[in-house]
Amino acid sequence: MATIAHLSDVHFGRHDPEVVAAVEAFLADKRPNLVVISGDFTQRARVNQYKEACSFVDRIEDMGLPVLAVPGNHDVPLYDVVQRFVRPLHRYKRFIDDDLCPYWENDELQVLGLNTARSFTIKDGSISLEQMQLIREAFRGDAEGKTRILVTHHPLFAMPIGDEGELTKVVKRHTDALLASAEAGVHILLAGHFHRAYTKSAREIVENAGPALVIQAGTATSTRLRGGEQQSFNWIEAHRGSVGIEVHAWEEDRFEPGKPASFGYDGENWHLKPASAVSP
Ligand SMILES: [Fe+2]
Ligand SMILES: [Fe+2]
Repeated sequence: MATIAHLSDVHFGRHDPEVVAAVEAFLADKRPNLVVISGDFTQRARVNQYKEACSFVDRIEDMGLPVLAVPGNHDVPLYDVVQRFVRPLHRYKRFIDDDLCPYWENDELQVLGLNTARSFTIKDGSISLEQMQLIREAFRGDAEGKTRILVTHHPLFAMPIGDEGELTKVVKRHTDALLASAEAGVHILLAGHFHRAYTKSAREIVENAGPALVIQAGTATSTRLRGGEQQSFNWIEAHRGSVGIEVHAWEEDRFEPGKPASFGYDGENWHLKPASAVSP
């Protein structure tokens, strides 16, 4: 069984140091096979914020834990026009990771991260034709039994927000990205951006989605809370067609695990196993 700690939207510059310390203590104790951080490392892409984010990543790597990261829209400078349009992710590459589309694998997992942050939109994301090719290439070949995971900051789909049936925007070229993901047999889509945690079968959200399980992370450490949700991160256990998810949410002075949910893959779709319950 492979274990993943899925953090997102850490937003250094608007972070809570007590929560950051608690995340690190959790990681040191649980020692996942992989730590995924799905973007928005900083609040405004300033150098001092990147330095703090860099120290956070360094401390995790110093524990001997691998980190797979992708940038978010907040990691592109907003007001510095030269940086935004000429070198939009220069600081991200300098302080976090030179590779904007990292790949990691072990005996059980194949994990590909894609950068969806762009200079020409403030919040919205995009996927390029080259990145779609990357999806097909990364997951090509004989990897029977491995769980295939695609990590982006912006979710590929329009996501439900609130209780009124309102939907978020989709990433540019999302239809093609869905096709590439489905063709490549991606099992799990990890993302953040909305600071809301939930898990759903992609087919319940959008048509032609392919057989993927969508796992959204809340904000792990920032004080930018939305929808009444506290800081949280996902603990994921994956093993050959079975995935367990536990959302650890901040409660006053510590992270508390929520009710675990288990999903089984039948070769075509993910199903919530009856013994567990998952929040929408
Ligand atoms: Fe964010
Ligand atoms: Fe974001």
